[in-house]
Amino acid sequence: MYTGPVRAIDLRSDTVTQPTPAMREAIAKAPVGDDVYGEDPTVDALQRRAAQLLGTEAALFVPSGSMGNQASLRTLTRPGDVVLAGENAHLLRYEAGAPAALWGVHVRTIGSGGLFDARDVRQAITVSDDAHVAPTRALAFENTHNFAGGRVFPLEALREAARVAREFGLGLHLDGARLFNAVVATGVPAAVWAEPFDTVTFCVSKGLGAPVGSLVCGSRARVRELHRARKLLGGAMRQAGILAAAGLHALDHHIDRLAADHANAARLAAGLAALGVRVDPPPETNMVMFEIDDGAAFAHGLRERSLRINAIAPGRFRAVTHLDVSAADIEEALGRIEEILRDLRR
Ligand SMILES: Cc1ncc(COP(=O)(O)O)c(C=O)c1O
Repeated sequence: MYTGPVRAIDLRSDTVTQPTPAMREAIAKAPVGDDVYGEDPTVDALQRRAAQLLGTEAALFVPSGSMGNQASLRTLTRPGDVVLAGENAHLLRYEAGAPAALWGVHVRTIGSGGLFDARDVRQAITVSDDAHVAPTRALAFENTHNFAGGRVFPLEALREAARVAREFGLGLHLDGARLFNAVVATGVPAAVWAEPFDTVTFCVSKGLGAPVGSLVCGSRARVRELHRARKLLGGAMRQAGILAAAGLHALDHHIDRLAADHANAARLAAGLAALGVRVDPPPETNMVMFEIDDGAAFAHGLRERSLRINAIAPGRFRAVTHLDVSAADIEEALGRIEEILRDLRR
């Protein structure tokens, strides 16, 4: 009979964080107005700050990363178009079929493991006056890549692939839900990552620790179109400064600390490997992907020990480090995993 610790350690996602006391204070103090009338000073401040960080003319606050991605696709495509994206792109795999359901576009995946290069792009683009052919209209990147385990898209490969896409007149979108993890992991500023794109989405609700919200960044004209797409999707919010205040606080205080999440992920990966667990790929940011043969029994052991880790495929698990997980929690988690593995070997 198991009698060990019961305090939950939640490694399911970096979206499970609680707002810190300081963030709650910022929320409480935020001046607000009706943002549908364009009168919320805190939303305005967050949008200006996002644009400044990403080096774009403008930015728009939206309720979610999914809305940011889909509003972007709306402005980049027409029904019947093809969008190219990396394997297992979030906008294809985890957004309820939105590209097809909402915009009548289909997504074709290229490359592998969420990455692709200029050659993949060149080979996939269909340009033809032939009326049979669905035009390739846009290329979407994901950085860091969720399903690929928080992988960073190599900057030069990204630039080259984007350059080829431009050569063929494609629109360019970056799903940067975790862009700041890439920024902290590489030291490459957000504005450099954002430079090739028409639209860039990033989330304040993931590793940055805000309760709600994402920003979509682009030119002034693009953001005007995004504004209409947000309205179409029902994403225009009223006194949204309550939420934007958390986003501003996150941008002021929670970017640099992502390095601690990355260090915790590296420690978790090393500890798992020392226990004989296959970790693949090695973590680059705040996610650790690992494999356990008897995934169902392992998942049962996790539940018994209040250790929350998602299975993303049979026998394949994803642990995510975040603001509410300390270095001590990682050691504790490794101790519980060691016990589960010992039970499995019995
Ligand atoms: C890479 C990526 N893009 C987009 C999203 C969607 O964000 P949201 O859950 O805010 O819709 C997620 C969510 O996990 C994600 O991982």
